Amino acid sequence: ATLSVIGVPCDAGAGTFGAAMGPDALRVAGLIEGLEALGCTLIDQGNLSGPKKLRPVEQAGLRNLAEVIQWCETTRDAVLSALSIPSMPVVLGGDHSLAMGSIAALAQYCQQTGKNLHVLWLDAHTDFNTELTTPSGNLHGMPLSCLCGYGPPALTGLAGFAPILSPAQITQVGIRSVDAAEKRFVHEQGIEIYDMRRIDELGMPAVMRSILSKLDANTHLHVSLDVDFLDPDIAPGVGTAVLGGPTYREAQLCMEMIAESGCLGSLDIVELNPAYDIRNQTAKLIVDLVESLLGKSTLIRRA
Ligand code: ARG
Ligand code: MN
Ligand code: MN
Ligand code: MN
Repeated sequence: ATLSVIGVPCDAGAGTFGAAMGPDALRVAGLIEGLEALGCTLIDQGNLSGPKKLRPVEQAGLRNLAEVIQWCETTRDAVLSALSIPSMPVVLGGDHSLAMGSIAALAQYCQQTGKNLHVLWLDAHTDFNTELTTPSGNLHGMPLSCLCGYGPPALTGLAGFAPILSPAQITQVGIRSVDAAEKRFVHEQGIEIYDMRRIDELGMPAVMRSILSKLDANTHLHVSLDVDFLDPDIAPGVGTAVLGGPTYREAQLCMEMIAESGCLGSLDIVELNPAYDIRNQTAKLIVDLVESLLGKSTLIRRA
């Protein structure tokens, strides 16, 4: 496969500083070499440029909206050109608000090519707040509601049509932190959510089997990997850590099963915050998991 690696050093959507260092931390941890060793052809597009967040501003509603819009537009354009090469976009964030840009590009591309877009959102959070429900004003808590048509027009219209996604195109795994009003909204929208309670009860293999069995060969699967999906014991390098996430083995299995589905079309890695990390261990863990996502396995396995 040919991969286009796109660094998006933005933290305008987050409440803390530091996610802007994510792309470089992943490169330092050996992401490029690791993927090349798997036989992938890599085009490293370097880091995009955009507005810097100089200091965190306390603000209700939609914090740093103009900066987030700019980053999302730039990300959308870079993902569109990666798709046109053609290559598989691998976006290195940056905070999770950038997913509005990358998914806007994927929605356009799938509309043009007649593919079915499905988004697998691996996260501790549902990221379905709106201006009315957000307790923080941080736009990284709102990308999915904007993609589903609830938000400022500059974001809901990123693909040139709205809504960019329907709730049926989204599956969430790993969820364990949802704000009160957000909880009612995701329920109303009918989003398919495998929260940690369901993962505890069913086990990761059954969860992934049931998600992947619903995808057909014409599916473009986009994986939106928020690093806080992982248990903070193994992945401390995030700004919004929540106890009780998937273990190393559960995460590996999740990645390997996605790889075996053959549906993976694009990937965002977001919310890595090297300022909270310990000797880049979280970045190294992500490199290991992404290798599995792109087909690395211990043994040659029967299909
Ligand atoms: N629900 C919280 C909020 O809206 C946290 C969101 C965290 N999102 C993330 N992508 N890390 O502020
Ligand atoms: Mn999260
Ligand atoms: Mn997130
Ligand atoms: Mn691996």
